[in-house]
Amino acid sequence: MKILVIGSGGREHALAWKIAQSPRVKTVFVAPGNGGTATTARVRNLPITDIERLGDFCVAEDVHLTVVGPEGPLAAGVVDHFRMRRLRIFGPTRAAAQLESSKAFAKEFMQRHRIPTAGHRTFSDPAPAHAYIDERSCALVVKADGLAAGKGVVVAATAQQAHAAVDDMLERNSYGVQHGEQGARVVIEDFLEGEEASFIVLVDGQHVLPLASSQDHKRLRDGDEGPNTGGMGAYSPAPVVTPEVHARVMREIIVPTVQAMAAEGHAYTGFLYAGLMIDRQGRASTLEFNCRLGDPETQPILMRLKSDLVQVLDAAIDGKLDRVELQWDRRTALSVVLAAPGYPESPRLGEVIEGLPAAAEDLQVFHAGTRLEAGALRTSGGRVLAVTALGDSLRMAQSRAYTGVRQIHFEGMQFRQDIGWRALKRQDRA
Ligand code: AMP
Ligand code: GLY
Repeated sequence: MKILVIGSGGREHALAWKIAQSPRVKTVFVAPGNGGTATTARVRNLPITDIERLGDFCVAEDVHLTVVGPEGPLAAGVVDHFRMRRLRIFGPTRAAAQLESSKAFAKEFMQRHRIPTAGHRTFSDPAPAHAYIDERSCALVVKADGLAAGKGVVVAATAQQAHAAVDDMLERNSYGVQHGEQGARVVIEDFLEGEEASFIVLVDGQHVLPLASSQDHKRLRDGDEGPNTGGMGAYSPAPVVTPEVHARVMREIIVPTVQAMAAEGHAYTGFLYAGLMIDRQGRASTLEFNCRLGDPETQPILMRLKSDLVQVLDAAIDGKLDRVELQWDRRTALSVVLAAPGYPESPRLGEVIEGLPAAAEDLQVFHAGTRLEAGALRTSGGRVLAVTALGDSLRMAQSRAYTGVRQIHFEGMQFRQDIGWRALKRQDRA
């Protein structure tokens, strides 16, 4: 059986690595892939990004199914195109992907269906946006509407910062956001206190199958300081998602979202990621939806998944997720991201990477921004590697991952020393 994974990051390397372990799989193609997918057993890179040509390839090679990593191809309609050609693919249609590609769509949807989220207003004109900021006394978060690759969100400590963010987004598009059909818009929402977690499920249009919980570290520097990034590390499970929180999130957020999407005529299929803020009472609000797996959350999650992922994806594409039960490794998995110097603003690329530790049952180095060039591995993106380890406790997983990190070298390598700190703090309190 041949499988296609679309994308080129650490998430896609982890997907391909996991899928290649399925006994029925002969080859996993990753389009376009990276230096890690180029060197994983039974995995091959495919230098195609055009949706139509990917469809042609799947027909010509009789690819059994396709799974989509990033949001870009989903928002561009890859699922609609593949379905039209009767090709098996797992992901949301373009209309359903609006849950991620438009913050305004997602916020209005949640409000309409009473799904817990921060209070908000959407603006396309600066003047009423500025007036709203002055009128609101609480701390605010200003978000550009559109795909922004993890940027385009300003947590404003002061009204002055909120005003500046509105000008940046509406007048100058300083974040380089890809606008939807309605042009530049901003969502201004109330700031929520609490602890964040990533809650990711598979959806087949009707049934929901939750993955193990996880938590990522969005800020660049230790102690959650510095600019927002795509994610500097992650671990699974996330202790903040207790069984009670899990049940509540399913009941109040995930199930109503899936039901309402179907009722509104865009039945949701694919991975659905709710970014949650969980308060001290265990109440969860939705900060955002993503219509894909998280990166780097996927790396620790898939390290713990024991089930055959191809069987799960097949069931999902066939609308039979209610018949699947996932088996998980009871250990904790933790992933530390190694980023290029200058990331996230202007990463410097092309450095030689050395000292990659050998893969082991409890250690995998997933590649993101790497490429093989005449036999040498070089950096080619902002986030370069995700060193991922399993351990009987969070502390053991952390120590195993950092032992791996210390063997690796490239010029200017940046990483956080404290991945897992929130979970450790929670443990120490308990
Ligand atoms: P988003 O892309 O919407 O998830 O926002 C990126 C990050 O900004 C989140 O991971 C949070 O750390 C922060 N954030 C977004 N919205 C809020 C909010 N309403 N209250 C507090 N923090 C937020
Ligand atoms: N790690 C956050 C995300 O994938 O959006």
